[in-house]
Amino acid sequence: MAVLPIITFPNAVLRQRARKVREIDKPLLRLAHDMIDTMHANYGVGLAANQVGVLKRVIVIQLPEEEEPRIYINPEIVVREGEREVEEGCLSVPGYIGTITRSILVRFRALDSTSKLVRLKADGLLAQALEHEVDHLNGVLYIDHLKSHEALRELPPPGAEDAAEPKEAATEVHAV
Ligand code: NI
Repeated sequence: MAVLPIITFPNAVLRQRARKVREIDKPLLRLAHDMIDTMHANYGVGLAANQVGVLKRVIVIQLPEEEEPRIYINPEIVVREGEREVEEGCLSVPGYIGTITRSILVRFRALDSTSKLVRLKADGLLAQALEHEVDHLNGVLYIDHLKSHEALRELPPPGAEDAAEPKEAATEVHAV
């Protein structure tokens, strides 16, 4: 298990489409577990393989209230329903958050780490993370969904915040 370096914008790997996984073998599972370690080390709720420089269709997600991380291989959003505004951040775009539109509900399918087909219906942060990570696999970043420059905001650098001031956005918005 290892914490891998996270590739950041504007690296071209983030703009490439990841390839479908043909075989869920040991090296692929090692990659997924390294991605989980990397997500944990950076306090993210999700990570896509592009973000560690690997163009394979693998994502990992762990919501704040969940005890176990999820590994999804060849994930697909099958249905999107509704629209809502969300605040979003990304480990590959450090120091910023933005307001964008995501779906209210998604239907999703993928293979899990045992090659079993998983189908699920998701809303809330899980739906947001699934859309965000599948976007990564297609070379899309959340900043592509911004409607205006004003929708992107810079966060104060780490350590710069006044101890007397509560950290608002940074603690509420989960980087994915
Ligand atoms: Ni991201």
